[in-house]
Amino acid sequence: MGWIRSCTVMVTMMVNYCEIISSEGPIAWSDDYRIGVGQIDGEHEALFSVYHEFISSLNSGAGQDAVKDAIIKLEDYIADHFTSEEELMISIEFPELFSHKLEHLDFQVAVTRFKKSVLRGEDVNQDFVKFFGHWLISHITIMDRRIGEFLRANPAG
Ligand SMILES: [Fe+2]
Ligand SMILES: [Fe+2]
Repeated sequence: MGWIRSCTVMVTMMVNYCEIISSEGPIAWSDDYRIGVGQIDGEHEALFSVYHEFISSLNSGAGQDAVKDAIIKLEDYIADHFTSEEELMISIEFPELFSHKLEHLDFQVAVTRFKKSVLRGEDVNQDFVKFFGHWLISHITIMDRRIGEFLRANPAG
């Protein structure tokens, strides 16, 4: 039945992507994105704040240095959050750790590539900014949510 879940995940991601690409402005944090694990929910909310700081630096006309500082901060926060989440998954022996970590790594490569283009002074690709928000919501509501579900089903951890 794995293929049914895979199809469901794909459809959900496509719906999220269409909603985000058609929406204006940055995507706001919502309590709907909570996975029921306090530490991780707090980090996700903070990650949205850092993402919004980056968008503000783009729109405020604060200058190229501010944009560079903001993307470096965002990349650093993502690395810290992923490390924290992966340590939790190891500690609870989460069975989907490997596939989950691969998604993290794939995203980090994309963020680092984007950061390098910003540091080179290239124009910011707005499609990437939208992709970033889309990825965050899809990953949190599909992959990260499964950590919360696993913890509730296995309270002894
Ligand atoms: Fe994750
Ligand atoms: Fe996460």
